[in-house]
Amino acid sequence: MQRLLIFGAGSLAKIISQWLLESDKYSVAAFVVDDGYESDKCIAGNAIPVISYSEAKKQYSAADIRFVIAVGYKSLRNRARVAKRITNDGYSLESIISKSASIDTSVKLGEGCIVFPNVTIEPFCDIGANNIFWSGTIICHDVKIGEHNFFAAGSLIGGEVSIENLCFFGFRSVVIHQLTLASETLIGAASMLSSNSESAAQYIGTPAKLRGFHHEYGIQI
Ligand SMILES: CC(C)(COP(=O)(O)OP(=O)(O)OC[C@H]1O[C@@H](n2cnc3c(N)ncnc32)[C@H](O)[C@@H]1OP(=O)(O)O)[C@@H](O)C(=O)NCCC(=O)NCCS
Repeated sequence: MQRLLIFGAGSLAKIISQWLLESDKYSVAAFVVDDGYESDKCIAGNAIPVISYSEAKKQYSAADIRFVIAVGYKSLRNRARVAKRITNDGYSLESIISKSASIDTSVKLGEGCIVFPNVTIEPFCDIGANNIFWSGTIICHDVKIGEHNFFAAGSLIGGEVSIENLCFFGFRSVVIHQLTLASETLIGAASMLSSNSESAAQYIGTPAKLRGFHHEYGIQI
């Protein structure tokens, strides 16, 4: 059985640990938080300990354990920072994939992705590390996705779209086929993007219109 450390102690960590309770493939050793935050974190009703990152590094070697990143979408740059710190320290990231997700066998999926129930990923998609696909997301054929992106429930990405890094897709957002999305694009909930996006730009409405930029702090929801 693969032992895991879940980085994070918020709602995403709670959801992932709930899935893993029923798994015969994984066991969760601890939730891990940044140093200094371990005392005020408590996952109600969960017997798994919460430890600091320094403590985790002392207790578990990279040969024994893999990390799951359960940092949510509040700050995508922070999600990326956490992933980089963990991999720079020599640990590997585990992808957690719901049994009811449908991922074609031709799909390349990077490490540390979280794939919720009823997600569909069609043939020939090429997906990087540390992406989250929330329930019901559909990624059509031949889509290329970089790293650290977040797809909220019901996102729909058309065929042959290319997505860079750190992008956010709101609930039921739609991206028309064959577009190119620059890093840190944000698509609002229920919005439909029908042209290529600029870097660190926010789009809302149907068809989506450019609303502003967030170059300084990145996407913060
Ligand atoms: C796009 C978004 C980030 C903007 O948030 P915000 O900066 O707080 O914006 P506000 O709520 O102040 O809205 C500003 C204006 O944009 C409009 N607007 C906001 N989101 C919109 C959307 N998705 N589609 C159309 N119009 C939208 C508002 O109606 C408002 O219009 P007004 O100025 O005419 O009153 C947010 O509305 C959104 O869509 N978030 C994604 C939510 C989501 O999917 N979460 C998933 C979590 S799992």
